[in-house]
Amino acid sequence: MDVEECLKEWDDLVTDYKRLESINKDYAAKLEEVGELQASCMKELNHQRYRMNVITGALKRLEKKGVTKDERVANLEKEVMKRKAMLHEIEATLPKQNSMYLRIILGNVNVSILNKNDKFKYKDEYEKFKLILSVIAFVLAVLNLYIDFRPLQLILIFLLVWYYCTLTIRESILKVNGSRIKGWWRLHHFISTAVAGVLLIWPQNEPWNEFRHTFLCFIAYISVVQYMQFRYQSGVLYRLKALGARHNMDITIEGFHSWMWRGLSYLLPFLFGGYVFQLYIAYTLYQLSYHPEATWQVPNLAVMFLVLHSGNMYTILRTMRKKTTGSLKLRYKLRAIAYRLSNELTTLEQKWRPNKTESKTD
Ligand code: COA
Repeated sequence: MDVEECLKEWDDLVTDYKRLESINKDYAAKLEEVGELQASCMKELNHQRYRMNVITGALKRLEKKGVTKDERVANLEKEVMKRKAMLHEIEATLPKQNSMYLRIILGNVNVSILNKNDKFKYKDEYEKFKLILSVIAFVLAVLNLYIDFRPLQLILIFLLVWYYCTLTIRESILKVNGSRIKGWWRLHHFISTAVAGVLLIWPQNEPWNEFRHTFLCFIAYISVVQYMQFRYQSGVLYRLKALGARHNMDITIEGFHSWMWRGLSYLLPFLFGGYVFQLYIAYTLYQLSYHPEATWQVPNLAVMFLVLHSGNMYTILRTMRKKTTGSLKLRYKLRAIAYRLSNELTTLEQKWRPNKTESKTD
């Protein structure tokens, strides 16, 4: 290019730059508009919650006074339940402050995922991450069962520390984005991080040699259970997404329910097996704590395994009770979650409205 050509190119580029400037201006204006929309959505959401609380408070007072519940009140209560589930999901589409744990770890970076497709992908990735790490843990546990080599044991235990620690971060991000994951499962992963940390510094003494085999069998067992959990959880995720898609008529709430119960009846015996295993480990460690060479790690781990066993048992029984007794609430929650995971623009409220037979059976 000679100087003349360079000048001509530059003039062309100036026109292109003006176009870029105008697009960027549009973009900045839209961003500002999005911020304003988010703020007014939040205001409306709080308004809905406030007025709903007033209504439910009034209904409770009437019930206390002994006013008989007629059909209108029953319908109103159903509508409130439905609305609560939808408000939870609408809230998940708005940016949220990080929890204290995330603020400490990540700082004040925004982890809200506002796009439904990205939300679905993030959850899907979380399940796949758990699966891959379970496969690696299974292989390492089996190798350790056959080869008594301390560095290999430390690799497995260190992997567990890192894995559970990462899970706590990912689950906190899922929670910010509207997941209904129960507090216990998150706490369970915090305790598991501590368990793995204590195992890492347990010196290689006689009690460890006596315990090692049981521990490795446990890791191998829960890795297999985690594979089953993955099959169940990713099945739930894809079915919920399909449930929320307007064009998809293959799956109904009834179909989802029967699939969920089939999945659970297959998974639950193995989960309970894992909890019995945890109790057995707590007992083994308790007995080992009387060993003359036992260090402080042994009784502490016994207590931690007992806490894990009790918390798991309690939470799973409560989950099952809620799933069996609160079926109407569960229906509304499912609809709302399906709405969050689907990338359709219409709400499920609209999707189900024409289906009169279903609202009657509600
Ligand atoms: N870890 C992470 N997330 C979990 C979870 C767990 N253990 N259990 C439930 N969740 C999530 C679900 O994916 C769902 O997320 P979403 O709101 O983003 O869609 C939410 O919590 C609500 O789930 P819920 O309806 O209460 O239960 P579910 O039908 O999805 O799963 C169980 C029920 C019992 C299968 C499940 O809780 C489970 O596998 N628990 C056992 C975990 C365990 O004990 N592991 C150690 C084995 S020794």
